[in-house]
Amino acid sequence: MRPLSQVAHSVDLLTLVLTLVCALVVILIIGFITYYCLKYKAGKKADRSYDTQSTGLEITWTALTLVIFVSFFAWGMNVYQKQVSPKKADYEVYVFAKRWMWEFHHPGGLREINHLHLPSHKNIRLRMVSKDVIHSFYIPDFRVKQDILPETYTSIHFKAERVGDFLLQCAEYCGTDHSRMGGKVTFLKEEEYLKLVKDSTTVTLGASGKEVFETKGCISCHGNERMAPSLVGLTDDSYLRKSILYPTNKNRGRYQGIMPSYQGTLSEEELISLIQYIKGFRK
Ligand code: CUA
Repeated sequence: MRPLSQVAHSVDLLTLVLTLVCALVVILIIGFITYYCLKYKAGKKADRSYDTQSTGLEITWTALTLVIFVSFFAWGMNVYQKQVSPKKADYEVYVFAKRWMWEFHHPGGLREINHLHLPSHKNIRLRMVSKDVIHSFYIPDFRVKQDILPETYTSIHFKAERVGDFLLQCAEYCGTDHSRMGGKVTFLKEEEYLKLVKDSTTVTLGASGKEVFETKGCISCHGNERMAPSLVGLTDDSYLRKSILYPTNKNRGRYQGIMPSYQGTLSEEELISLIQYIKGFRK
């Protein structure tokens, strides 16, 4: 069977080998127990003398198990890294989780609820935040799972190797309707995805971010180099988010203490569109 994604393939292989090694250990243990039960059965004639010390054996089992466990750790780490390490994303989509639904905002303007459309054969990055409690974004077929937290962005990367519909599920107990907090992810050919985004009538994230930038007063300082530092070249979502909500938390040099906190005055959607807009600033 063709793998659904690179990550799914490596997770499956690791799980299979782990299961086989565990099965082998179980068989060995039960085998030895049975063998020695029979050999040393009460009344049976057997040599019952034993060594109290066997350094060779001790070193062997310590070293061998250490090597086995460390190699599983390294292998698992490698697989995990593929999912979480930032690599260049061809497409980035924002995910909002709230009890008990999913919202997806595509930078091109498309907005979706509970049904996410993505292009296949492309590196996808989802940037996610919760509006209430902890949720978890889970596509079982892709072996992709990432917690979604309030107040902070988490990300996940994957690349689908084929088109089709896949189940989406919340994997963190989040209240009464947790079990129904599901949805669907549809992978399309890239052209079809782009057409879908183009046909959507909503404005792009950047455009709505521009509006926030102008109406919430950001422009009155950040539109002027003498009043506030330049925003050109800022691309880290989490840094931008924290700087907007808690501007005094970091040392801002000579601009220290000027900017007010926007905590509570911007919705998660406004924040993300604002961030998207600022990320687009060029010299
Ligand atoms: Cu959201 Cu469980």
